Amino acid sequence: MNCGKCKTKAVISLPRHNAAFCKGCFTTFMHEQVARAIKSFKMFAPEDRILVAVSGGKDSLALWHILLTLGYRADALYVNLGIGAYSDESHRKVRHYADTVAAAHGAKLIVHVVEQEAGGGIRELATVLHRPTCSTCGTIKRYQFNRAAVEQDYDVMATGHNLDDEAARLLGNVLHWQDEYLEKQGPTLPASVEGFAKKVKPLCRLSEREIAAYAVVNRIDYIVEECPMAKGSKMILYKEVLNRLETESPGTKQRFYWGFLEKQNKPDVPKESMAEKDQRTLHPCQSCGQPTTADTCSYCKMMAKAKTATPR
Ligand code: AMP
Ligand code: FES
Ligand code: ZN
Repeated sequence: MNCGKCKTKAVISLPRHNAAFCKGCFTTFMHEQVARAIKSFKMFAPEDRILVAVSGGKDSLALWHILLTLGYRADALYVNLGIGAYSDESHRKVRHYADTVAAAHGAKLIVHVVEQEAGGGIRELATVLHRPTCSTCGTIKRYQFNRAAVEQDYDVMATGHNLDDEAARLLGNVLHWQDEYLEKQGPTLPASVEGFAKKVKPLCRLSEREIAAYAVVNRIDYIVEECPMAKGSKMILYKEVLNRLETESPGTKQRFYWGFLEKQNKPDVPKESMAEKDQRTLHPCQSCGQPTTADTCSYCKMMAKAKTATPR
C-alpha cells in the first residue's frame, strides 16, 4: 500500500476518506483537518491566546502539539484529580511534554490539584457528596477549565474531544432526547455571558484511531490507560456500538455527527439563540462569581458540602 499523495510506503489507511498516507503526508493531513475545523467553526484567530485542557491522554496532548506546531499561542491546564497511580502517571506525562516540547515553543503548563482545594481526591469527594465519581469529576473539571481561562484572560479554552467522543455523546443525547444538551452540543460554544470562556473542540473532525496514530508517528508520550472510573460507562458502550457500525460501513460516525451539525445550522423554526438564553438565565454565583442559574453554583455547593460532611 502506497501513500496516495507522494507514492512512498503508506503507514496508515483511512477507509472513511478512501485514502492511505505515509508519515509525512499523514501529519500534513491531520494539521489540515484541524485548521479546517478552526476556520469553519470560527474557533480562534492566529493572535488569540488559547488554553488547552490537557489530561495526559493522546487526544489533548496531540491537540497541544498540533496547535503549537501550527504556530498558535497555546498554554495548557492540567487538573490533577487525585486518582492514585492513574493521576500520578498522567501528571508525569503532561509535565514531561510541557518541559520538553512545549517549553521550547515558549508555552507554559498550569496545574490545579483537586486535593489541595477539596481536601481529598475525586473519589473521596464523590463518597462524601454521595454522588457518582464521574459526574463529580465533570463538575470540577468544567469549573476549573472555565475559571482558569477567565481569570488568566485566555481568549478561548480548547479540549481534546474527537469525532468518536462527539458521535458517542450525540448518540446518548438522541437516545434520551436530551433537547437541551443537543442544543449545546457543537464544536464551538460562545462566551455567551461575562465570566464564561469560549470553548472549542478543534479535533472534532478526527477519529480516535487517527489521533492515536498521529501521537505515535510524532513520538508524543501519552498515558494509554483510560481513567479507572470510566469502566462500564455508557459512553464506552456507545463508542463500541458506533465502531461496529463503522467497521461495516466506513464513514457512519462522520455522517451521523456532521449531519447533525448541518441540521443544527439550519433550524426550521427560528429559536432563541443560545447566547440570548444564557443572558436571560445566568448570573454570577454569590460565592465565587462564576455564571450559574442558581444563587450558588454547583461547584461552590459541592465544596461547601465537602467541608462540612465527614466521609462515611
Ligand atoms: P474526557 O472527558 O476524559 O473524555 O476528556 C475530554 C477532554 O477534557 C480531554 O481531551 C481534555 O481536553 C480534557 N480533560 C480531561 N481530563 C482532564 C484533566 N484531568 N485535566 C485537564 N484536562 C482534562
Ligand atoms: Fe473523571 Fe475519570 S476522568 S472520573
Ligand atoms: Zn460558585
